[in-house]
Amino acid sequence: MYDEEIKKRRTFAIISHPDAGKTTLTEKFLLYGGAINLAGSVKGKATARHAVSDWMEIEKERGISVTSSVLQFHYDGFCINILDTPGHQDFSEDTYRTLMAADSAVMVIDASKGVEAQTRKLFKVCGMRHIPVFTFINKLDRDANDTFELLDEIEKELGIATCPINWPIGSGKRFKGVYDRKDRQVITFSDTEKGTKEGKSERIDMDDADTLKSHIGEEALEQLQSEIELLDGASAEFDLDAVRAGELSPVFFGSALTNFGVELFLHYFLQMTTEPLGRKSDIGVIDPKENDFSAFVFKIQANMNKAHRDRIAFMRICSGKFTAGMEVKHIQEDKMIRLSQPQQMMAQERHIVDEAYAGDIIGVFDPGIFSIGDTLCSGNDKFCYEGIPTFAPEHFARVRQMDTMKRKQFVKGITQIAQEGAIQIFQEFNTGMEEIIVGVVGVLQFEVLKYRLENEYNVDIKLENLPFEHIRWIENKEDFDVEKIVGTSDMKRIKDMKGNPLLLFVNSWSVGMVLERNEGLQLSEFGRNT
Ligand code: G4P
Repeated sequence: MYDEEIKKRRTFAIISHPDAGKTTLTEKFLLYGGAINLAGSVKGKATARHAVSDWMEIEKERGISVTSSVLQFHYDGFCINILDTPGHQDFSEDTYRTLMAADSAVMVIDASKGVEAQTRKLFKVCGMRHIPVFTFINKLDRDANDTFELLDEIEKELGIATCPINWPIGSGKRFKGVYDRKDRQVITFSDTEKGTKEGKSERIDMDDADTLKSHIGEEALEQLQSEIELLDGASAEFDLDAVRAGELSPVFFGSALTNFGVELFLHYFLQMTTEPLGRKSDIGVIDPKENDFSAFVFKIQANMNKAHRDRIAFMRICSGKFTAGMEVKHIQEDKMIRLSQPQQMMAQERHIVDEAYAGDIIGVFDPGIFSIGDTLCSGNDKFCYEGIPTFAPEHFARVRQMDTMKRKQFVKGITQIAQEGAIQIFQEFNTGMEEIIVGVVGVLQFEVLKYRLENEYNVDIKLENLPFEHIRWIENKEDFDVEKIVGTSDMKRIKDMKGNPLLLFVNSWSVGMVLERNEGLQLSEFGRNT
């Protein structure tokens, strides 16, 4: 129905380990889109960096990270939505969930570090969804690891085939540019001045050996020629279907800081990634163009404005068109609601949107009615999008409530905070609500929980860290008597608030042991939201 608008949409997440250059690359993207005039204004780095200890600071920081968490800009006829995935101390389940709203992911890797922990974790979620993953190997202006080894590492560690779209010529002080394999041209390196997008790069045909020699030197040219020969013989053939199925990652090299290779990346990326595609629901795949408005909630942000104690529910529009003030059906509650104060993020500003289309992300005021994974449809439809899985927390603590008289507030508070998706709560397998175990993806969430319970619910708690680092859902729980599972000494049985059994382990080795000792047992790192 709104084919033209939807066809222009490209919605992707940027993933990386902290410091690989995600923010810098995002800034450069925005620069091309004309969304900001001066690179360097995406987020307050100073605030984002320092150790955070109190909630005011956390809130301030979150305000900033949220503002920059969904960015929209236009470039070359496309309408691009970038979803930032919070890293550093802000790393949380939200980081994973953001990937549920993206159609593809851009993975930024530091060329001198290779695949790092956080990238590995985020990549797993991309793999689960089979979304296309594009690799940008960054910081070539610094000494880098061997290019073949970098590719090998990505393939082995992440289990995805790679296909270099361009190839770096040297690195660090000897970085001369990249070779564009499709056009068979060398693009010479130029250190673009901060805040401008006009580089002084030149494109030189690979056959024009004399010009190349004068630009990159004889030695670099010889090395490039032999590497290309090796590459053409060894690397996977480019296959767009495999890219779109998340099986082959196109790889690009560049330097975000000096703005080299960024536009080249955008150019190919926008051609190779997909427009918003159909999404699975309980009545089949919903076509973005054929259907009226539908969306699902993937993130709930609490207390962005202290004065109003408001929550913002972020939703990904999956089909049709949204218009401000429209009435939609909240499927889980079976109620018609008006979406008020719809907002969109543009660089540092939040602004009210009048209309948005499939592929876009909007944030709406939430008076406490939404949960993660909720579906909204236009009045005539009734279906639910596939639920968002629960992601494995990595830090666990036992929560002790200091004042037992406040049991009710405590249960209400912790349940509401869990509903927003910042924490997960569990119980001992055999006891009731007395003992609560809380699990988080990033340790900062422990502080957030304590502060919010004190300030919003007037409840004091004490958190006692537990040594567990691994949690597994039991996939085939119907087939196993949880009490009879043969465990290891470090294994603990717990259940989530819906009564699903889970296992906690101190080390990953035990997970393997338990699988070995209990034939047929299926364990999963993702919890089905049922
Ligand atoms: P992140 O969002 O992934 O955490 O990384 P971010 O962009 O903040 O970059 C981390 C550091 O790496 C920054 O330096 C940034 O300037 C630098 N950087 C990013 N891309 C490149 C690149 O292509 N080449 C080089 N040489 N450096 C790069 P910083 O000193 O930690 O911060 P700042 O003071 O420069 O902001």
